[in-house]
Amino acid sequence: APVRDLEGRRILISAGGTREPLDPVRFIGNRSSGKQGVALALAAATRGAEVVLVAANLEVDAPAHVSVVPVSTTLELEAAMSVAAPDADTVIMAAAVADYRPESVAESKIKKETQGDRLTLSLVKNPDILRGLVDARRPGQVVIGFAAETEPDDEKLLAVGRAKVARKGCDYLVLNRVGWTEGFAAERNTVLILDSAGDIVGEATGPKRAVADRVLDLLADRP
Ligand code: C5P
Repeated sequence: APVRDLEGRRILISAGGTREPLDPVRFIGNRSSGKQGVALALAAATRGAEVVLVAANLEVDAPAHVSVVPVSTTLELEAAMSVAAPDADTVIMAAAVADYRPESVAESKIKKETQGDRLTLSLVKNPDILRGLVDARRPGQVVIGFAAETEPDDEKLLAVGRAKVARKGCDYLVLNRVGWTEGFAAERNTVLILDSAGDIVGEATGPKRAVADRVLDLLADRP
């Protein structure tokens, strides 16, 4: 039987990637499959936690024994997270969130016949959900962020991660490298886990489930 070392913990996890509609049939999206966030939800539930999964356009099935809140856009994800966060002991932002969304959504399909040879999109900045959750957190609540970076050099990757954890103010940052072939759709992952001071407190490489368990070990080790 699995170790139920997260019994009684309430963990809120976001997974997948947000989509920002341009018109009724098109969106701006990203390559997140949701696999790492779903692996976290499954691992947490298996270890006895009560899990709420806010699921943005998952390419994989959500696990059983987890309460799922489906969302699509960044603003929907933000609303779902802010509703659920007050009831959570831990919040994990594993979703890949669009930093910008189209300024306006066309009522009907954008047509090349009326647009001509060039189409310019105007985008506006989305809220930083993680930052907002950190600002609103209650005492003792643990907030974990993810950072998927394309930085090829290890030193620079770490520097980017350290700057990000300081900027976001989260308790831990799970840092991984992504690229054309690594990261989002893959079955495996390689991560460094930084604490709020930017110190490396964990590392993991392997199937996304093993990486998930390593992240959850940080919570199990806390009172
Ligand atoms: O700033 P960056 O996108 O690299 O930060 C990644 C972390 O911040 C992830 O945990 C992601 O879920 C979260 N994020 C967010 N809202 C945004 C952008 C990223 O919560 N608008």
